[in-house]
Amino acid sequence: MRNKIIAANWKMNKDEYESKNLTYEILKYLNKTNNPSVYKILCVPFPFLNKIHNMCAGVNMIFVGAQNCSAFENGAYTGEVSSAMLKSLSILYAIVGHSERRIMFKESDDLILEKMKRLISKQIIPIYCCGEPFSERKKKNHIRYVLNQIEQSVCNLKKEEIKKIVIAYEPIWSIGTGITAELEDVQEMHFAIRKFIRLKYGSSVSKNLSLLYGGSVNPLNAKQIFDLPDVDGGLIGGASLKSQDFIDIVNSIN
Ligand code: 13P
Repeated sequence: MRNKIIAANWKMNKDEYESKNLTYEILKYLNKTNNPSVYKILCVPFPFLNKIHNMCAGVNMIFVGAQNCSAFENGAYTGEVSSAMLKSLSILYAIVGHSERRIMFKESDDLILEKMKRLISKQIIPIYCCGEPFSERKKKNHIRYVLNQIEQSVCNLKKEEIKKIVIAYEPIWSIGTGITAELEDVQEMHFAIRKFIRLKYGSSVSKNLSLLYGGSVNPLNAKQIFDLPDVDGGLIGGASLKSQDFIDIVNSIN
């Protein structure tokens, strides 16, 4: 089944006090109204994973995720955080391949693939991000660009592993800019990704794949995006840092 998912990506924002406050506000609302068919995932900075995970414990359908994970198992990798460490905190999701990491930290498709394998081996679901720069869209090469990203990383997973990932399409030019992709462009890309996965792995995989959209989603545009036939939810950056906006976005999905 395609799960409905709204994931927050807090990125490198908020200190401990602010993180707890934001979580508290979100939980206060969810204690009253909580759509049980929507997975809500808070992807928070590493230092706050445990605290926020504990705050969310016992709240139906709310989960905590990491924003990254090491491609290595363990050992002399100063500053890295392993999938085993995340597992030991009972973390169930982790973002991988975000364009900010691809661009600023030079993460390659191979590295992203290794990270996904590490996560899956520890029963943590990777939220795999893909998306094109504006130059590729201008050249009308955006679909080929994104499918190539998927081919180079996701498609090196085994069929059983692919069933355990979520894909988030985030056009780079839309992230943090206030420019949302046109609805038909979002649907076109999501349809293309699902079709590509169907051709490679069969419809039993593609029809159960949750495909999220990310890029300047806000309370005003969320519903139209989530109503698109191949969109199963969103990966939310800036708007997830404001409790009311995030809750309004959560409420926009049926
Ligand atoms: P914005 O919602 O701030 O555009 O960020 C999207 C994003 O990068 C989520 O991972």
